[in-house]
Amino acid sequence: MSKISLSPTNDFCPQSLFLYGTYDDEGKANFGLFCWFSYVWDSELGVMACIGGSKLTKANIHRTKVFSANLVTEALLPLADLMGNTRGGSPEKAAAAPRLEAGRVLPVPVLTDSPVVFELEVKQFIPLHDGEVMLCAIRNVLQDETLADEAKTSTEKLAEIAPVQTTCSRYFSWNGRDLGEWGEPRKKLAR
Ligand SMILES: Cc1cc2nc3c(=O)[nH]c(=O)nc-3n(C[C@H](O)[C@H](O)[C@H](O)COP(=O)(O)O)c2cc1C
Repeated sequence: MSKISLSPTNDFCPQSLFLYGTYDDEGKANFGLFCWFSYVWDSELGVMACIGGSKLTKANIHRTKVFSANLVTEALLPLADLMGNTRGGSPEKAAAAPRLEAGRVLPVPVLTDSPVVFELEVKQFIPLHDGEVMLCAIRNVLQDETLADEAKTSTEKLAEIAPVQTTCSRYFSWNGRDLGEWGEPRKKLAR
């Protein structure tokens, strides 16, 4: 393969998407869309997440030290795209009313329609120039009970829950089908 050099980019490196759920200082649930999310090992499995700039999600996590990370599926994509392209506290974001439930272990809002949810507690904040890395303990994992069905393969279960991936400023299905550019899926939401 003959390669070309580029300035920093993560194009062609697909990432899973999560909606981070937090409570604001009035106890109202807020969700932001995030993909700089991966795993760490330190005696047990943990999560590392990076938030750039100033965001309501970041302020809420600083105050409470906890958040939920809800896996984004094709069914959730219009909502997720809205949450990723509108600031916390904006009227459009406030008007979206996803089905919510409470975390089982931590005081975090959880999306009823996400099949895989982490309840996370930040153990260490690592402030950078204008971004921040957070190292988190996984206090609970909520999975749709169908994912425990031993009669089905992981391939079948992934096809059923249909997680969304992102790269090149676009969304893709689990099997690589184009689901639109950032900012497009939200247009499907009823006005
Ligand atoms: C596909 C996608 C992925 C995103 N991933 C991140 C991310 O990993 N880190 C980040 O700081 N912002 C990310 N954003 C931007 C936030 O979702 C956006 O700033 C949002 O308005 C934050 O919501 P909040 O203001 O309610 O906190 C992403 C946006 C999109 C569309």
